[in-house]
Amino acid sequence: MARTGKTALVTGASVGLGAEFARLFAADGHDVVLVARRRDKLEALGGDLEKTHGVRAVALPEDLGDREAPVRISKELDERGIAPEFLVNNAGFGSNGAFAELELGRELEMVQVNVVALVHLTRLLLPGMLARGSGRILNLGSTAGFVPGPFMADYYASKAFVNSFSQALWYELRGSGVTVTVSCPGATATEFSQVAGNDKSPLFKAGAMGATAVATHAYRAMMRGKRMAIPGLRNKLLLQSLRVSPSSVSLGVAGGLNRTSDTKGIRSTKRVRGSRREPQRIQPRASSVSLRNGLASSRARTSSRTLVLFQLRGARSSSACSGQCGRRQKTSRRYDHGSMAKS
Ligand SMILES: NC(=O)c1ccc[n+]([C@@H]2O[C@H](COP(=O)([O-])OP(=O)(O)OC[C@H]3O[C@@H](n4cnc5c(N)ncnc54)[C@H](OP(=O)(O)O)[C@@H]3O)[C@@H](O)[C@H]2O)c1
Repeated sequence: MARTGKTALVTGASVGLGAEFARLFAADGHDVVLVARRRDKLEALGGDLEKTHGVRAVALPEDLGDREAPVRISKELDERGIAPEFLVNNAGFGSNGAFAELELGRELEMVQVNVVALVHLTRLLLPGMLARGSGRILNLGSTAGFVPGPFMADYYASKAFVNSFSQALWYELRGSGVTVTVSCPGATATEFSQVAGNDKSPLFKAGAMGATAVATHAYRAMMRGKRMAIPGLRNKLLLQSLRVSPSSVSLGVAGGLNRTSDTKGIRSTKRVRGSRREPQRIQPRASSVSLRNGLASSRARTSSRTLVLFQLRGARSSSACSGQCGRRQKTSRRYDHGSMAKS
């Protein structure tokens, strides 16, 4: 396809969904600016796209965990005379575990990359798009953004921000020529689960969609100016079931799907007579933790088990799933948390 002269800035373009987005833009004749930390991967992908599609590819290695990165990117674009028509805020990562035990620096970095950098880049590039009366912004939210997610608490919260922020912007920008689309994938086969440490969680063991299918779905939605894109039947059904579930149930379901063998409980302090407070690992018991915190009544636990089973079965039947979806789970063990089934 002939070069369009339009440019797409894609963050997190070194691998996974970001690299897929870059390929889609290039295949449509758009130039690309590729942002991520791994320079070698950006340059290799950029070279490949230039050779295959005859577009111009610029590799911009940046760490979006650095607060100043969006300003540096914006200045670099100005110096090169590039005014992106498309912005894809895709860079992001998650972490799995009990929040009290996760490393604080890493969690703050996550909020910086998933939320602050996305807001910052959008705010820096949006005025130019508005002045030109044309532009497309695609933000990577998640199905995780529709429900609180125990054991990935701040990741889910970061995606709730992205889902909400993007839809509000879409509304504000109606009639301006600029649109904002939020893509809300569920489990997708990329490096994400290894980075987050949840590749052994029931969520990912149940199967993941292929990155090409997810990116193509989001790309088309963005080009049409749609407000939201939820890829795959399984994800759509999951969200519908969450909408009609009590929040105590959806919390239990999300917690169950995120649990791995490493997230057995949280550290707490227990007063021991005659001694100072000692940290102690608490094993969650249905009778104490779940009921005391109001997270799940026995009825809710039954319902949430049903929902998890429904989700796992949905994974097998989803037409858009990758090959992992059909894999049979060999063993089944129930956590004493009550609401989770782990294979
Ligand atoms: N995979 C899923 O199951 C899933 C589901 C829903 C939503 N999402 C969202 O989809 C987006 C893309 O994820 P993915 O699945 O493609 O994961 P991925 O394969 O791990 O790719 C993540 C990308 O983000 C970049 N990145 C991470 N930290 C960065 C930083 N500090 N500065 C700059 N770039 C950084 C990585 O590049 P470098 O490491 O080279 O910096 C990489 O290119 C994320 O926002 C994720 O939350 C993923």
